Amino acid sequence: MAAVVADQALDNSNVSSIKSLADSQALNSVPSAYAFNINPNDEADPNDPEFAIPIVDMSLLTSGSPDERAKIIRDLVKICEEWGFFIAINHGVPESLMKGMIDACHGFFSLPDEEKKEFKSGNDVLEMFKYGTSYNLALDKVLLWRDFFKVRTHPEFFSLYKPASFSETSLEFSRRSREVALEITRAISESLGLEPDYIYNTMNMDRGLQLLAGNYYPPCPQPEHAIGIPHHTDHGLVTLLIQNEMNGLQVEHNGKWLTVNGPKNGFFVNLADQMQILTNGKYKSVMHRATVNNKATRISIAIPHGPSVDTIIAPAPELCEREGQAPKYLAMNYKEYIQLQQSGKNYMKSTFDHIRA
Ligand code: OGA
Ligand code: NI
Repeated sequence: MAAVVADQALDNSNVSSIKSLADSQALNSVPSAYAFNINPNDEADPNDPEFAIPIVDMSLLTSGSPDERAKIIRDLVKICEEWGFFIAINHGVPESLMKGMIDACHGFFSLPDEEKKEFKSGNDVLEMFKYGTSYNLALDKVLLWRDFFKVRTHPEFFSLYKPASFSETSLEFSRRSREVALEITRAISESLGLEPDYIYNTMNMDRGLQLLAGNYYPPCPQPEHAIGIPHHTDHGLVTLLIQNEMNGLQVEHNGKWLTVNGPKNGFFVNLADQMQILTNGKYKSVMHRATVNNKATRISIAIPHGPSVDTIIAPAPELCEREGQAPKYLAMNYKEYIQLQQSGKNYMKSTFDHIRA
């Protein structure tokens, strides 16, 4: 039976969703169209102190003493240079809202495929919303073990209109997540020795792009032979991510893949390409990927935050001057950058490699 599924899946136009494939078959192996090998030797030992994931207590940024705030900002320098990743705790977004958002995503993915298809659209990241499987069926050489939706939630708020509760929950969740992301960009500005509003102002974040992206990874019979999302960096400034009770996100650190496991109710925070460009390579857009498992469905929600789409991003002149460095990246409009990333030329590469000066 699995062989038949594999043959069908080779013609990508037949693929409707990984959920229906996983639901409908007693699959005991990964169909060949999904074959992707993970090398277990590349994985980090989570008990090795070298791989202790940095934790940032957001309450010390928002209501700590000046000394406490200054210490967090000093810590951030190292975290952003060495990791480009941390877990934000005490961020103020209620646990019930985070859970409600996961439940709303679960509700959406549980709709019949026919209903979800109403949300299908082109491949432009700037669509109001889109739903699909894999990454881009027209381009993917290996199919990904995931279904997804993406909704644009800022500067204008859009929403899926099913299930009924989705809109209200995502409005509140995206608003509260944005506050956390903006607090992080203020702290990062300060960590660079710039005014707290430097990134907000130069990146036109009053009109900044925010997306809400839901990922659905059903159980996979051979998790080491499939991939949820292969390694990539995100295109914006900073991405927040939450998940249900299943782990799967891995970040690259010191040449190894580390499975992110941390305090429940924390936000996983990764720096993205525009932050690396703006800081002229000082801060790191972390390489990451999503693995799958054979036990239970994993749902993750990534909330990328970027500049406004018309912003031209280049290394900050203030930083280049101070460090006596020439800009390492060419200036580029954010929307064009996103289009370059989505064009498929950069599959499993960093887009910013294309704009090195
Ligand atoms: C993403 C992403 C990781 C995950 O959606 O860009 O990296 O754990 N997701 O789902
Ligand atoms: Ni990502």
